[in-house]
Amino acid sequence: MADPTVEPPTVRLANAGDVQRLRAFRCVHGAGTWYERHAADVVRRAALWLDQGRLEATDAVLLFEVGEDLVGVAVITEESGATAHVAAVATERTLRGARLGSESGPRLSATVLATALEEASTRGYSRATAIVARPHRRSQRLLEQAGFSFESRFDDSYDLHSVEL
Ligand SMILES: CC(C)(COP(=O)(O)OP(=O)(O)OC[C@H]1O[C@@H](n2cnc3c(N)ncnc32)[C@H](O)[C@@H]1OP(=O)(O)O)[C@@H](O)C(=O)NCCC(=O)NCCS
Repeated sequence: MADPTVEPPTVRLANAGDVQRLRAFRCVHGAGTWYERHAADVVRRAALWLDQGRLEATDAVLLFEVGEDLVGVAVITEESGATAHVAAVATERTLRGARLGSESGPRLSATVLATALEEASTRGYSRATAIVARPHRRSQRLLEQAGFSFESRFDDSYDLHSVEL
C-alpha cells in the first residue's frame, strides 16, 4: 500500500491554549510497543507541564498542523549550555510513513525532526542528543538520516545518539 500523503504542515510553538489538543494527540496504534508508549508519555508530560505553567524557557514544544489537524509534535529541552535534547518526535498515528505533498515528497517524520533541530540551532545550541530504544528501528533510521550517530550505550534499553548542528 502506498504511503499516505499530507499537505506540508505549518509549525509553531505550543502555548497554554494547546493543552487539550496535545492531550488528544495520539501517536501510537492500540497498545503499541513499550518504546512508542514511552514517547507518547513524553508528549503527555509536555501537555501537563504546559498546563501547569512549568515549561522552562529552554523547553520547546513544536506543533505541526495541517488546518485544524495536529499531525506531529516535537519536544526539545536543554541538556547543557551548548546541547539540546530531542525528547520526543511523534507523528499522528494514522500518518505512519506519511509523505508531504505527494508520494515522492519528503517524509513527515523527517520534517518534524529536521524542524526540531532547526529550532535548537536557532536557540543557539551547537549539538543535539536523543536517546533511542534499541529495538526502535524507525527512530534509529530517522535519526541516522538527520546526521545523528551512536555515542554510547545509555542503559539496558536505550542508546544515546548525537549530532552537531
Ligand atoms: C517515530 C515516528 C515519528 C516515525 O515516523 P514514521 O512515519 O512511522 O516513520 P517513517 O515511515 O517515516 O520511517 C522513517 C524511516 O525508518 C524506516 N523504517 C520504517 N520501519 C522500519 C523498520 N522496521 N526497520 C528499519 N527501518 C524502518 C523508513 O523506511 C524510513 O526510512 P527511509 O526514509 O530511508 O525509507 C512515528 O512512528 C511515531 O510517531 N511513533 C510514535 C512515537 C515514537 O516512537 N517516537 C520516537 C521516539 S521519541
